[in-house]
Amino acid sequence: MFHSLAIKNIQKETTEAVSIEFEVPSSLKEDFQFLSGQFLTLKTEIGGNEVRRSYSICSSPKSGILKVVVKQVENGVFSTYANSTLKNNDTIEVGVPAGGFVVNTEADNKKNYTLIAAGSGITPVISIAKTILEDEPNSSVNLFYGNKTASQTIFKTELEELSKEYNNRLNFHLLFSAEKGDSRFHSGRIEGRKIKKIFKEFAPISNTNEVFICGPQEMTEAIRDFLIKKHKYPVNQIHFELFTTTLKKTKSNSKSNKSSLVTATIDGETFEFTVKPGETILDAGTKNGVDIPFSCQGGVCGACKCIKGEGELTMDNNIVLSDDEVASGQYLACQSKVKSESVKISFDF
Ligand SMILES: Cc1cc2nc3c(=O)[nH]c(=O)nc-3n(C[C@H](O)[C@H](O)[C@H](O)COP(=O)(O)OP(=O)(O)OC[C@H]3O[C@@H](n4cnc5c(N)ncnc54)[C@H](O)[C@@H]3O)c2cc1C
Ligand code: FES
Repeated sequence: MFHSLAIKNIQKETTEAVSIEFEVPSSLKEDFQFLSGQFLTLKTEIGGNEVRRSYSICSSPKSGILKVVVKQVENGVFSTYANSTLKNNDTIEVGVPAGGFVVNTEADNKKNYTLIAAGSGITPVISIAKTILEDEPNSSVNLFYGNKTASQTIFKTELEELSKEYNNRLNFHLLFSAEKGDSRFHSGRIEGRKIKKIFKEFAPISNTNEVFICGPQEMTEAIRDFLIKKHKYPVNQIHFELFTTTLKKTKSNSKSNKSSLVTATIDGETFEFTVKPGETILDAGTKNGVDIPFSCQGGVCGACKCIKGEGELTMDNNIVLSDDEVASGQYLACQSKVKSESVKISFDF
């Protein structure tokens, strides 16, 4: 569900990133309560087209602030608009907080968390770090954060201050790939040997209770492979969020050239529309004026999650649904194609 929110404060964080703080009226405070790590979907019209993009909330729930950071992507439609056009008091449609890349804190926990972020991937991670430090006085955080240069590092000063404030509970490491860092370890990308060093020297695996990763797909996969394949680290103790994926859509393997009928329930209302072979449910629904929720259209954000009733579906890319969710019949409408004559799905669950 989207609400119109005014921009309370938009400011440059680096030369290529702006933070946007929203004004949340008291009537909407409950709708915009969030867990650290969740994201907002922003919706607006740019050049006559509706554009939706997701942005992780970088503030902590206890701060009472709702803030995101948008990093400029080369030729990016929304990130260019946010970095060059949006200003204080502009209003924008904002979806309620969503996403499962979250930390569930408990005051009695005594855990060691390892957080690894690169570039704009710091946005959910800084929120998660703050929440752990605020909520769990006996837990500690190892934070590894990679960027090209110091000047491109979002929240550099804030993280350095946080590290002073929490002294022995936050071990913060900044790594630069396009300039020299504090040591050999702190110079270069987070890959190969550095991943090994992180989990051997700085944050030994045997001592690590949970790992949170947000950055490029290559880095995320390298860390997951190292932990899961090489060290049999429990999959459910690794949490990750991808902002974009390089996976491609697969061609339909349906032999039929007949359209299928989709019956979809959204917010208690039922809609019927047809979908062509090879067409996704999201594309067909949107074309037919059905307001299916979506954001990334790449299988990474989960905004289009639905549950299947009768009928058969296939799914292309799935980064966000867990094995358990898939086993329970959940699908991503942006990635799902219909294999049977008809299918029933629901977005209300
Ligand atoms: C759950 C989630 C949370 C996100 N949180 C944040 C956040 O906190 N801050 C943030 O800045 N972005 C975040 N993103 C990414 C954001 O949603 C947009 O994808 C990004 O801002 C680019 O949008 P655009 O309209 O400018 O680019 P588009 O016009 O969509 O794309 C332009 C070109 O850039 C490429 N591209 C798209 N996204 C990226 C990217 N992230 N990195 C490199 N190349 C890209 C595309 O392949 C395309 O070629 C998040 C995405 C998801 C799914
Ligand atoms: S719209 Fe993001 S997973 Fe489908």
